[in-house]
Amino acid sequence: MPRSTGQAADSALPYVPARGGIPALRRAAAGCRGCPLYAEATQTVFGAGPARARLMLVGEQPGDQEDRAGEPFVGPAGRLLRSALDEAGIDAEQAYFTNAVKHFKFAPVTEGRKRRIHKAPSLGEMAACRPWLAAEIKRVDPELVVALGATAGKSLLGNSFKVTASRGALLSLAPGTDLPLAEEESGSADDADRRLLATVHPSAVLRSKDRDEAFAGLVSDLRVASRFLG
Ligand code: URA
Repeated sequence: MPRSTGQAADSALPYVPARGGIPALRRAAAGCRGCPLYAEATQTVFGAGPARARLMLVGEQPGDQEDRAGEPFVGPAGRLLRSALDEAGIDAEQAYFTNAVKHFKFAPVTEGRKRRIHKAPSLGEMAACRPWLAAEIKRVDPELVVALGATAGKSLLGNSFKVTASRGALLSLAPGTDLPLAEEESGSADDADRRLLATVHPSAVLRSKDRDEAFAGLVSDLRVASRFLG
């Protein structure tokens, strides 16, 4: 079992198996100690969906409900996302759902009822977890990856990514986006054809003052995905 080596240079890379499909990745990710987030979370929440989906949706990290269930997007943000996909004409059953970071990061709050408040992952935690996302992309091999919000966008396109500047446009997710691939996974010909579409995170829609308008914006971006997939 690989050992975690410290703080900023933490990485999941030593835990990513060189061979096998999504089930092999999921099994290995369950034991990931590539950054300190595993220690407080209930479990690793790996991606879910068809092993060869044409569409992959990438969120930030599991929330409270996902952490307990061990499945991505099963809480309020997931329900909103599924209804936006439906409105955009995308069958959620055909999509692969995952997150940039595979463990729930939270702060415990103990006033009254015990609660766990979501904390955004750091750039170091995103970088540490990126090998899992890279491996999922290579092995699911989607034609289109949808980045939901800034964390997913930064994980996929680099730290200067801004949702507001890029949302709704079909971008290229080609090599050179610095995803740390295992050696035998790098440089396949179809990388050049893979597209990326960025949009807002469904939790941002839930928090928005004008939820209807924010929801309509998410649906409008997802319609670009729907048209691309045909
Ligand atoms: N938010 C995310 O980004 N991912 C989930 O799986 C749930 C909520």
